[in-house]
Amino acid sequence: MIKLWSTFFVVTLLTCFVANNVAEQCSLSAKGSPNFPANFSFGVATAAYQIEGGWNADGKGPSIWDDFTHSDPEKIRDKSNGDIAADSYHRFEQDLQALKELKVNHYRFSIAWSRIYPTGDISSRNQKAIDYYNHVIDKLIANGIKPMVTMFHYDLPSEIQKIGGFTNSLLINQFVVYAIELFENYGDRVKTWITFNEPYDYCHNGYGDATYPPQVYAPGVADYLCIDNTLKAHAAAYRSYQSRFAKTQGGKVGITLDSRYFFSKTNDEDVIDRAMQYNLGLLAHPIFSKTGGYPDVMIMDIGANSQKEGRIRSRLPSFKGKWRDIVKGSADFLGLNYYSSRYIKPASKPNGVSPSWERDFNCDASIDPKWLRAASDWLYCVPEGLEGILKFIRDEYDNVEVIITENGWSDDGTGLIDDDRIRYLKSHLQAVLNAINDGCNVRGYTTWSLIDNFEWLRGYTEKFGLYAVNMSSPNRERTAKKSAGYYREVIQKRQIPSLF
Ligand code: BGC
Repeated sequence: MIKLWSTFFVVTLLTCFVANNVAEQCSLSAKGSPNFPANFSFGVATAAYQIEGGWNADGKGPSIWDDFTHSDPEKIRDKSNGDIAADSYHRFEQDLQALKELKVNHYRFSIAWSRIYPTGDISSRNQKAIDYYNHVIDKLIANGIKPMVTMFHYDLPSEIQKIGGFTNSLLINQFVVYAIELFENYGDRVKTWITFNEPYDYCHNGYGDATYPPQVYAPGVADYLCIDNTLKAHAAAYRSYQSRFAKTQGGKVGITLDSRYFFSKTNDEDVIDRAMQYNLGLLAHPIFSKTGGYPDVMIMDIGANSQKEGRIRSRLPSFKGKWRDIVKGSADFLGLNYYSSRYIKPASKPNGVSPSWERDFNCDASIDPKWLRAASDWLYCVPEGLEGILKFIRDEYDNVEVIITENGWSDDGTGLIDDDRIRYLKSHLQAVLNAINDGCNVRGYTTWSLIDNFEWLRGYTEKFGLYAVNMSSPNRERTAKKSAGYYREVIQKRQIPSLF
């Protein structure tokens, strides 16, 4: 009997220890007021290719993700594609139902460029697509949900890629024409616009290491060119909005950038700053810094590396003529996608191939094995990193307005009780609140994602939704996970409820 009791005691103690330990790994203590500001906006996000399906419905043209998943299915973990996905193109009402249940203040979704202009060009303008997004926007507004529109989320019209896509500066004008089409049609109701989602990712993966479409392998060259053209296209669209629409429509235009935050085991501030400049700074410095242009450290390194490689000019383009000024200050807010962090140190041996962003950066990243991991192998719960990056933005970019446009956690789809997602959500909301209490100008928070969806190279094997989607049913029913209830409570109380 005594043995039984002592075993019970040890097991209970161990269970408590494990539970506490898990919670500690993914939690953050509160600093300051427990209330989110009255005008703080809570939302959820999705993106067209990941949820819409209807890949060729009503005249939609192909995008580079349609082409890639059709021609190279083996490159997607489960050989799937976005042809049907969650079928939101035909089932928006089901998404709306979920949005209403959550009582979100805003819904961030993206418009498929190749629906509006099937060839990417105005000559192919597709009224049915214009009508579809009109319907979505009207329904959101009728239900008191503010639309937050991303104009580009990875799905470049294939025809534009045929002439080089983001490596051809013609893209700048093509994007501006498309942006104006959106402002003209939807700007009376859409007041928050995001030009591009995560340029670093689609440039580095699409034109650098070729893991994403259009699979151009030109690391350290075409990826920087893609970033340069993205910055110019963004700025040109922003300036068009300012000169033609801002007065009458009164909306805001920003860009969504993603970055990890970095820690140093030896408190090496220089390496932390280097990592921040190479990640967030590459796109944020030209737009949000006082001086504009790329971060000095990148200009110097890449210039020197290019010279060593025998080139006559830097692989990192320099803004010529007025471009530096056009890009500087070209955003009303910074959209931030934050998922995770890393430890960083100077590289012990040259990193990556030469040339490449990795070789230029030349740092080694690592994780803390104690960090709680999601279903995605890159995603660890590090809420301190969100607080850190928000303070970095406050100090580096003159406390520009920030909207967190993505933050989320993946599961493997085995159940609806997603306690780890709730832990992640709770601790990251705490990070946001701590940052606000510390003077950071954060105006909104958006969970990725409303529903499970096509997770790019991982297909449907990693699920980020607050709602599960029954992918084997033609109706694609949405079912709330436990985290949906938790988030609804956050939104209702405008406070962070305690766990479970
Ligand atoms: C992207 C989303 C993606 C999410 C999770 C972000 O980088 O914007 O499209 O699904 O991360 O990987």
